[in-house]
Order: sequence, then C-alpha cells, then structure tokens
Amino acid sequence: MPDVASPCPAEAPAAGLVSGLVPVRADDVPDVEAFLRDADLTLAGLDRADVHLWVARDASGRVAASAGFELSADGEHALVRSTAVRQDRRGRGEGLAVAEFAVLRARDAGARHAWLFSRRSGPFWQRLGFARATTEELAGVLADATQVRLFRRTGQLEREVAWHRDLDRP
Ligand SMILES: CC(C)(COP(=O)(O)OP(=O)(O)OC[C@H]1O[C@@H](n2cnc3c(N)ncnc32)[C@H](O)[C@@H]1OP(=O)(O)O)[C@@H](O)C(=O)NCCC(=O)NCCS
Repeated sequence: MPDVASPCPAEAPAAGLVSGLVPVRADDVPDVEAFLRDADLTLAGLDRADVHLWVARDASGRVAASAGFELSADGEHALVRSTAVRQDRRGRGEGLAVAEFAVLRARDAGARHAWLFSRRSGPFWQRLGFARATTEELAGVLADATQVRLFRRTGQLEREVAWHRDLDRP
C-alpha cells in the first residue's frame, strides 16, 4: 500500500512524495501551519496570495511534506521557504526532492536567483547547489518578502545565514 496519496504509486519514495505535492489552498493553511510549527519554521505569510506553497499528505491525510517560495517584486528573485519533511519520513531522500521541486517551480515562475535562510541545514542546501551569501544581499533583493520583513522587525536578520543559487544555469 502506498503511504502517500499519489497518482504514481509505483514510483520511488522520493518521486512519490514530490508527485503528491499540490498547491496549498485556504483550507490547508491550519494543517500546514501546525506542520511548520512542528518543524520549527517561519509561519508568517502562509495565507498570502504571493506566497506559493505546496503540501503533500499521506494516505491518512496527515501532512507529509511542504515546500514553497516567495518572489521579489520584479520577479527575478525567489525566497525558497517552508521546506520540510515530517520527522518519521526523513532520511530517505525526500527532503532533497521536495526542496528541488520548490526551486524548479521558482525557476518556472521566472526567477533567475533562488535564495533562502538556513542556520542549521547549510550542507543540505549545498547538495542542491546553494552557496553562502550575505543576509544583506538577500534582504536587498527580497526586501518585501515576508521572512525578510519579519526578520528585520525582530532583529533576527543579523543572526540568520543566507544562501543563494543561480537559476540561469541548467
Ligand atoms: C531538512 C529536511 C527537509 C531534510 O529532509 P530529509 O528527508 O531528511 O532529507 P534527505 O533524506 O533528502 O537528505 C539528503 C541528504 O541531506 C542530509 N541532510 C538532511 N537534513 C540535513 C540537515 N538539516 N543538515 C545537513 N544535512 C542534512 C542527509 O543526511 C542526506 O545526506 P546523505 O545522502 O549523505 O545521507 C528535514 O530534516 C526537515 O524537514 N527539517 C525541519 C525543517 C527544516 O529545517 N527545513 C529546512 C529549512 S532551512
């Protein structure tokens, strides 16, 4: 029995979880918020129309993974956010697949640069081609992103670690 509600049950676990990702709708927001709280990720802006989020649920309807991004006003820059895999599903390659899904959706949306904040998971993002950047660079190009505004307001920006990946390269 597949444990993810997916149109491709014969696929490998990572592909199965990614193929189960669907855009978050208004009535998903409470579940996604609880899931991201458990994962210790930022909750701000989840219900904003310009925050693009996807969620995968397992066969029982529990959230199994999420991923998303916000675009800069000029559309050139994407802030990848809300990437998480439920604890009991980690360590099977699903995190990398879900994160890459969000990066590729940002590229499809026209972004030429992907950015993110990560204090704890740098080596994970390096696996996906991200390299260290400064928080000033990130906050400069994504000044209106929910996380940037939140981190500025709370003073967390200075404590954050920024990462960047060029999306122009194939
Ligand atoms: C980060 C997260 C999405 C990884 O999910 P996962 O399904 O365990 O990831 P994968 O199985 O695809 O891991 C792939 C590789 O990255 C490594 N990795 C996973 N999480 C990592 C982390 N937090 N830091 C460094 N490396 C990590 C794994 O060890 C694995 O390496 P290996 O192939 O050499 O064994 C998951 O731990 C999570 O949801 N964490 C809480 C939310 C979070 O921190 N999200 C990132 C936001 S910045």
